[in-house]
Amino acid sequence: MIISKRLIDIRNILGSIQIKSQSIGFVPTMGALHPGHMALIDACKTKNDICVCSIFVNPTQFNNKQDFEKYPITLTRDIQMLEAAGCDILFIPGIVEIYPAGYIAPHYELGILETILEGEFRPGHFQGVCQVVDRLLQIIAPNHLFLGQKDYQQCMVIKKLIELKSYPTRVITVPTIRENNKLALSSRNMRLTDPEKKKAEEISECLLTIKQEIKAGSLKELKMAMQHQLTKHGFMVDYVEIADADTLESIDVWDGKKKLVALVAAYLGEVRLIDNMLLNE
Ligand code: PAF
Repeated sequence: MIISKRLIDIRNILGSIQIKSQSIGFVPTMGALHPGHMALIDACKTKNDICVCSIFVNPTQFNNKQDFEKYPITLTRDIQMLEAAGCDILFIPGIVEIYPAGYIAPHYELGILETILEGEFRPGHFQGVCQVVDRLLQIIAPNHLFLGQKDYQQCMVIKKLIELKSYPTRVITVPTIRENNKLALSSRNMRLTDPEKKKAEEISECLLTIKQEIKAGSLKELKMAMQHQLTKHGFMVDYVEIADADTLESIDVWDGKKKLVALVAAYLGEVRLIDNMLLNE
């Protein structure tokens, strides 16, 4: 695996690949890699000649300073995992590579995606995600971009960014990997104790209950019941929402046909967890 830290190096390497017309797949990450990321690498390798991964803990997407400071960093292990998974190129930029002197953050018109769900509870977060992904897409210019379904709204935001900037990159969303089929894998899980991890399974249980119990008509009672259930188990709930799977608009009365996704965000102690489930694929 080639490891590159500087813009000039990665540009040279990728330039020679583009000359050979090899397809480039890209997996952007903030490190602290786990099997969920490895599923993205696997998908990337299957679909492309060259698999590029980046590790960059992007400060502009953290609306909470403590969350940024406590973000786990496990670089040596990450490199070993990527080597073992057969990643071809790892880009580990410094802050100046992404945000050079004189960088002016653009504003991205994300519509309602910016103000609902994660957008509501993490103001500025998606502008920060767009800033870093925009820079990375300019640098890597991949054919395919691999993102995890766990960050459902992020996938929609990045698709919107690609549309706004008319990039030729296609987004491939890879299903969430779960521990024992329950807790969605996340780098933030490293901050949970074992008993907390067990407790955190309640989030996916709640999504599963929604999937099993949902029927046409009012959904308000079901959302409320699940919110109460999580609160009862000691979570501080930001939202339990059932939304249109294509637009993320909240659905209170369901016609029994529209494609839906259920989404949850809740704190367990200081750790904020998110998860989602498609309800009628
Ligand atoms: O999902 C993440 O890990 C990050 O938001 C991303 C896409 C790498 C941008 O920093």
